[in-house]
Amino acid sequence: MARLFFALWPDADAARALARLGAELAARCGGRAVPESKIHLTLAFLGEVGSQRAAELLEFSLRGRAFELRLDHAGAFRKARVAWAGVDPAPAGLLELQAALAARLRESGFELEDRQFAPHVTLVRRIERGLERLAVEPVAWRAREAALVESERASGRYTTLRAWALEG
Ligand code: 2AM
Repeated sequence: MARLFFALWPDADAARALARLGAELAARCGGRAVPESKIHLTLAFLGEVGSQRAAELLEFSLRGRAFELRLDHAGAFRKARVAWAGVDPAPAGLLELQAALAARLRESGFELEDRQFAPHVTLVRRIERGLERLAVEPVAWRAREAALVESERASGRYTTLRAWALEG
């Protein structure tokens, strides 16, 4: 079994800027900033997947177009105790990619949460205080690929299993 998710990874400059923002948010809200190398935007969370099903995922055909992601505000999910950077409005390319991926996954029998997609990049976990929506210095990157990533339970390490190029 492997714990898997699909995500978009920022480029190096954006990751650095987001890590800096994470440290600022952690100073306000308490909690632990997500390490720079682990900062991402989740497209779909699959949870534990058996090796045969994981092999199917690796064979997926997934198409989409590249788009610019511009994170310009921060907020928090109190219940999940995370602070994040958000994108508003979400670019059409992001919504199309997420919808296509979710449809493809459901078609193949993967169970996804029913909740509406709320695109965000988690920057701090286990926050101790909430955070009202806050405008921040925008951080932008061009999303050029979607990745299937394994989260190793023991080490907490993320390993990219495959990346699908987005066109344009
Ligand atoms: P989060 O960043 O908002 O916490 C890998 O665990 C990624 O999948 C995380 O970015 C996490 O989102 C996301 N995810 C979505 N649903 C999840 C769940 N039920 N359990 C763990 N992670 C989840």
